[in-house]
Amino acid sequence: MKVIVAKNYEELSDIAAKQIVELVSEKPQAILGLATGSTPEGMYKRLVELYNENKVDFSKTKSFNLDEYKGLKGEHPQSYRYFMNTKLFDHINIDKANTYVPNGTAENIEEECLAYDERITAAGGIDLQVLGIGNNGHIGFNEPSDFLYMGTHLTDLTEDTINANSRFFDSKDEVPTQAITMGLGGIMKAKRILLLASGEKKAPIIAKLVEGKISTKIPASILQVHSDVVVIVNEAAASLLKKNSIRNIESISL
Ligand code: PGA
Repeated sequence: MKVIVAKNYEELSDIAAKQIVELVSEKPQAILGLATGSTPEGMYKRLVELYNENKVDFSKTKSFNLDEYKGLKGEHPQSYRYFMNTKLFDHINIDKANTYVPNGTAENIEEECLAYDERITAAGGIDLQVLGIGNNGHIGFNEPSDFLYMGTHLTDLTEDTINANSRFFDSKDEVPTQAITMGLGGIMKAKRILLLASGEKKAPIIAKLVEGKISTKIPASILQVHSDVVVIVNEAAASLLKKNSIRNIESISL
């Protein structure tokens, strides 16, 4: 795991966006694994800027999002499809038909999950997976548990996650209690993983992710066994890391 400490959120967003631009420039038909949440918002904003400056062409790129709330249609302002359209897809030249988000209103959720994984495999697998991390160590909606899932599946959200996400809804009662999420197998199959975290609140989980033991109680900890993970944090999120866990950006060939 490489850990890059950015000075602030802006720099973190810039470094992450440039990783995507570099990949898409080298491989225009790249398959991106994308994430929602407040952390990657700055990265999407930066990507739109770089696109407007003609630094990147997404016309051949495909994307697969990590997760979607069960029961929310794509037009719902809190759905992850809506988030992706409004933060990124509406502002760049990606073909929307090549952007995939699990369908939270599918009649047969089990079939939807299987088809989602098959679509990723048929596309050639994810080249670069962007991840945020929950305060409880979840990635996607792979919540702390006694066991973890390989494939895309329906999951119950923990109380922690419902509380954390209630900030986006009018009330906690409106937060869906279930979601479809890619599993740990799907995430681990990505060729490269970029995990982003910002702010003091994320410092304890970042320390556990980088320095702690691998445990299903901290789903993100399994990333320690992946061979190409770059953790990009700002100084606040890095504040509980030991000095020797941090590599300075200049010393890392990304
Ligand atoms: P956040 O969410 O970026 O809004 O903090 C991250 C997550 O829950 O995965």
